[in-house]
Amino acid sequence: MLIKEIIDKLALEGNCTKEELLYLLDNIADEEKEYLWEKADEVRRKNYDNKVYIRGLIEFTNYCKRDCVYCGIRRSNKKACRYRLTEEEILSCVEAGDKLGYKTFVLQGGEDPYFTDERLEKIIKKIKRKFPQNAITLSIGERTFESYKRLYDAGADRFLLRHETACRELYAELHPGATYENRVKCIEDLKKIGYQVGAGFMVGIPGQTNEDLVKDLIFLKSLQPHMVGIGPFIPHVDTPLGQCQGGAAEKTIIMLALTRLLLPKALLPATTALGSIDKLGREKGIKAGANVVMPNLSPNSVREKYALYNGKLSSGDEAAECRRDIERKINAIGFEIEVGRGDSKV
Ligand code: 5AD
Repeated sequence: MLIKEIIDKLALEGNCTKEELLYLLDNIADEEKEYLWEKADEVRRKNYDNKVYIRGLIEFTNYCKRDCVYCGIRRSNKKACRYRLTEEEILSCVEAGDKLGYKTFVLQGGEDPYFTDERLEKIIKKIKRKFPQNAITLSIGERTFESYKRLYDAGADRFLLRHETACRELYAELHPGATYENRVKCIEDLKKIGYQVGAGFMVGIPGQTNEDLVKDLIFLKSLQPHMVGIGPFIPHVDTPLGQCQGGAAEKTIIMLALTRLLLPKALLPATTALGSIDKLGREKGIKAGANVVMPNLSPNSVREKYALYNGKLSSGDEAAECRRDIERKINAIGFEIEVGRGDSKV
């Protein structure tokens, strides 16, 4: 089968076989890449027109009890300069964000035991009391069903928990002490509770094959998440993978476009990681089907410390206070910022 025929089938039916996906990943040529990006753009426009949603990202703690081998804030990285924002600091980020036009706040952090259900409930309720129309997205890792439920009942609307890789063995190698089964259980719990849920994976993580990437796509197709975060792996010097090669922007964009075709209504961010390895990464991602950007609303003093990988962007277009610049760049490639909560159409 020709690769263009596989792409046409994907665009038309939102599905194809895993053999076809693997054949495409193994053999796609430059001209066919362009075709894939065009088709993904078409499908996105059918569902979301030329609108790009914006979220304000608040990285509120970089303490983490986990030891993921790729991540700069893993607990074994003694060189990481740890911080956690106070409730007041988080609330003032939220206020500044609302004024700048951000109607979704993403509270992201390491798995920090300081942030108990009680503390988080209090913060969520305060934000919701002040901004009842705005959405709260949590991105705080694995917790129990009961904990997720409490935070949902307190007012959280959405939850991002990337599956990271759908290859069980690779998952185990990358996440000491954790299992793929529990990761998936957490994502399913979140769905059951009623959150709009985001999964996602890294591209180019050492040891990852095209077969593994096909598993990611098949997993996403059956999970039907509302959001999917996809970014290249980028090494961090103070981690066990520090000397490894990072993932490529182009491969990441291929995975984004395929995800758009498989999940036409998903919310797909053009991630900070993609923007960090390619000056035009975010624009290229948007053109290939992404429809969300998540600039940083954290206080300037901590931005550098939330170092998941080296070279992570936190200024310029990644900075929430530069909303006008972000908007101009997005307009320049023919897209428009959508103000509002930007709920999923799934
Ligand atoms: N490179 C790219 N992405 C990373 N993440 C963590 N460490 C890295 C890295 N070194 C991603 C993970 C996590 C998200 C918050 O950041 O996928 O889910």
